[in-house]
Amino acid sequence: MNSSTTNHFIELENQYGAHNYHPLPVVLSRGKGVFVWDVDGKRYFDFLSAYSAVNQGHCHPKIIAALQHQSERITLTSRAFHNDQLGPFEKYITELLGYDRVLPMNTGVEGGETAIKLARKWGYQVKGIPANQAKIGFASGNFWGRTIAAISTSQDIDSYGDFGPFVPGFEIVPYNDLEALDRLLQNGDVAAFMVEPIQGEAGVIVPDDDYLKGVRSLCNKYNVLFIADEVQTGLGRTGKMLCCDHADIKPDILVLGKALGGGVFPVSAVLTSDEVMNVLHPGQHGSTFGGNPMACAVAMASLKVLVDENLIDNAAAMGEVFRENLRNIASPIISEVRGKGLLNAIDILPFGNGKTAYDVCLALKDNGLLAKQTHTHTIRFAPPLTITKDEIQKASEIISNTIREIAK
Ligand SMILES: Cc1ncc(COP(=O)(O)O)c(C=O)c1O
Repeated sequence: MNSSTTNHFIELENQYGAHNYHPLPVVLSRGKGVFVWDVDGKRYFDFLSAYSAVNQGHCHPKIIAALQHQSERITLTSRAFHNDQLGPFEKYITELLGYDRVLPMNTGVEGGETAIKLARKWGYQVKGIPANQAKIGFASGNFWGRTIAAISTSQDIDSYGDFGPFVPGFEIVPYNDLEALDRLLQNGDVAAFMVEPIQGEAGVIVPDDDYLKGVRSLCNKYNVLFIADEVQTGLGRTGKMLCCDHADIKPDILVLGKALGGGVFPVSAVLTSDEVMNVLHPGQHGSTFGGNPMACAVAMASLKVLVDENLIDNAAAMGEVFRENLRNIASPIISEVRGKGLLNAIDILPFGNGKTAYDVCLALKDNGLLAKQTHTHTIRFAPPLTITKDEIQKASEIISNTIREIAK
């Protein structure tokens, strides 16, 4: 039963907002570290972390301090003028991640759009693809946002239905299928292949161990840019700085977002080489808010927190503990446990007369843990990377007790 306060806020959204989401019936008003509190003061473990945008934990003091400090100096200049935060941020992130140049944007989907624009221009100016013929490859099951370009690569009817016509020049090959990719890349008009190293929204789909290495070598063979969409998997989430680091490969273009803003500000970034970035000239791409001083100050603090507080190693270690705990539940309704670092998922078999992962999420909420199903049968578990062993154990107990109870 929801409280009347909770119902009040939900009814306001129902009456005045667009119905483009189906949130769990909980209204949050506060967050700290791995916990969030609802309007009635009930505390929950946050096992979604705003789709991995809160890797550093809610309201991290150093990130909030950077935000406050910068908010009292200057917040927005546009790129019509220089600001004293952009250059230092660009130096820091390129050196940290080993790229020549960075182009800052705001949301993840803008990062993806930027990467595709770069790849097309590189295709024409460097690879020599005939005008307007460039193709970009994508993997089936991809999710990279909601713009017209992003949904033009989607196979999810909810995402693309009735939103056509779509952007041409995009080709889909099955995820985790190197032979199909090889066939696609033989077409000399392909400029780039964009792929998530683990597919997040598709349900935390982890490809074979040799997949990313195989993508790298095919892209090398056919002179095609490898774009890694690490908006969800990047910045420590999978137990390495980048998920591609597990395969020991470096993409040509790296797209970051979400946790780059430390959960307080939308910041995305596209990192690449001189050769690729230098195809862009003034007036050819940009954004009013991209590279604003607030974003740069927050992003720099967000990266430093990840590094200084060893959150990446913590994600790797806590991920091992957590998956072991999930496997030990051994419930007949759990058909699979998978993931890397703190990006994990379980698949729930239909149970109790048509109940699904959504019903498990509702029960988890009642028991003090927030997680969200993705598609019908999968629950993603992605807590902030600051989570301690004690907290992982307590959260695992909630998950275990809830599933045992609901599956009775
Ligand atoms: C892999 C990936 N790329 C891109 C995006 C889009 O990010 P945003 O919602 O900030 O536009 C998402 C969002 O979930 C994502 O998971």
